[in-house]
Amino acid sequence: MSDKFIGKWAFPIDDSLLEQSARRGEQYDFEKIAKDIIGKVHFESHDVVLDLCCGNAALAKIISKTCKEIHGVDFSEKLIETAKIPPASQSGKIFLPSRELAVVLHLSDALNIDKLFQEDFFDKSYCYFSFQYFDKKKREDILEKLSRVTKHNGVIFLGDIPDKTRMWNFYPTQLKFYREKISRLIQFKEGECDLGWWINPKEIIDWCERKKLPVTILQQEKTLPHAHYRFDVLIKNSK
Ligand SMILES: C[S@@+](CC[C@H](N)C(=O)[O-])C[C@H]1O[C@@H](n2cnc3c(N)ncnc32)[C@H](O)[C@@H]1O
Repeated sequence: MSDKFIGKWAFPIDDSLLEQSARRGEQYDFEKIAKDIIGKVHFESHDVVLDLCCGNAALAKIISKTCKEIHGVDFSEKLIETAKIPPASQSGKIFLPSRELAVVLHLSDALNIDKLFQEDFFDKSYCYFSFQYFDKKKREDILEKLSRVTKHNGVIFLGDIPDKTRMWNFYPTQLKFYREKISRLIQFKEGECDLGWWINPKEIIDWCERKKLPVTILQQEKTLPHAHYRFDVLIKNSK
């Protein structure tokens, strides 16, 4: 079965949840990432939340403990199938949930959220380590649709986005970047590089200014593995 993410953007060498979500190496820790997101978004126990591009829902399952319910949307069959497996079987441990996991999964393209959910359905929405897989036109569509399905004065959080103004903190040489870029071009592969697209935070600020939505660009906590070249965004959906 061909998958829209696995084998196209991520090439896991084992079945670990981290590998599946394009995170290779011991520096990655879902609990730590979720804690960072929770600290920035401040979910509340009555919140209905959207995790756009939820992948295998490893983050959503942790974050769901802090809100009423999370709807995870992803177009990867492999990742949504993995997301359906209860955490107990994934870890091989006995799992005694204090309450049922409130994660509802939707196999769908992110660009269809306005068809899946009514306007103002969510109190808060987030999209982590995924906004960079959309080209500029689609990024604007995504922002438009996130604003539509998120309530007035709700929060939209975009996390772990490669920062075009800091790309040379990531590449050891410029040659490495241009090689990747040309190689993708000649193979007609989507994306500017293996990480997707590099995004200038100003692009998101400009969009928010046009829509008159307050926006804050956040740096990541220094101990997070991508802090030196990625950024987060918090938008107040005062539409
Ligand atoms: C690097 S993974 C991150 C997954 C998850 N947010 C996390 O942080 O663990 C990127 C995810 O974006 C999803 N994705 C990319 N483009 C998508 C699209 N057009 N519609 C839905 N999901 C998409 C992929 O399937 C993948 O699960």
